[in-house]
Amino acid sequence: MAELIDHPCVQHKLAIIRDVNTGHKRFRELATEITKFICYEALKNIKTKEVTVQTPVAEATCQKIDTDLVVVPILRAGIGMLEGILELVPTARVGFVGLYRDEETKQPVTYYERFPPQIKGGTCIIIDPMIATGGSTVAAIDKLKKNGAGNIVVVCIVTCPEGIELVETEHPDVPIYAAAIDKKLNEKKYSVPGVGDAGDRLFGTSH
Ligand code: PRP
Repeated sequence: MAELIDHPCVQHKLAIIRDVNTGHKRFRELATEITKFICYEALKNIKTKEVTVQTPVAEATCQKIDTDLVVVPILRAGIGMLEGILELVPTARVGFVGLYRDEETKQPVTYYERFPPQIKGGTCIIIDPMIATGGSTVAAIDKLKKNGAGNIVVVCIVTCPEGIELVETEHPDVPIYAAAIDKKLNEKKYSVPGVGDAGDRLFGTSH
């Protein structure tokens, strides 16, 4: 299942982050801003518990989050979305998966993984600006599940039908939330129109 966050405030920011003339400083700011909005939607079904709070006037019955949240950026570009989600849920823990796509085969290669134990029984939110073939996302979900995670959601900025299909086939229980579902992949396995190489644009490594 992929849910498109088509709110005008998100789509406006998406138009700017897609723009080739947007530099790395603004790209980073927009990645943070967009992530916060998408995660707001992605976390709408997390477990809450009823609590009673004393207001200055009377007792109020309220809801508080009742699950451990673990954010998992896929290195390196996922780091660009970390600040946005932590603004929304500042007590979340953070795990990491280091993956890059082999330039020839386009297959994900793992170079790092480290997760807090709360992935077991908690809610894991994988963040990565682009899901293209879906290979990196599937590999990250595989690793989380192998380490005991049961409840996983994926948040990205742009994805495309090929990536959604692979994630749905391999992990039908894991929803994807995105600001854009693009048309297709190009021959270099970039989403079209996409945002380009999100890692390079975030960190200023392209030129
Ligand atoms: C990009 C992107 C995803 C992956 C998506 O990372 O951030 O992790 O490619 O491609 P896929 O869906 O086809 O697997 P990249 O390999 O460029 O690494 P980087 O984050 O270190 O720049």
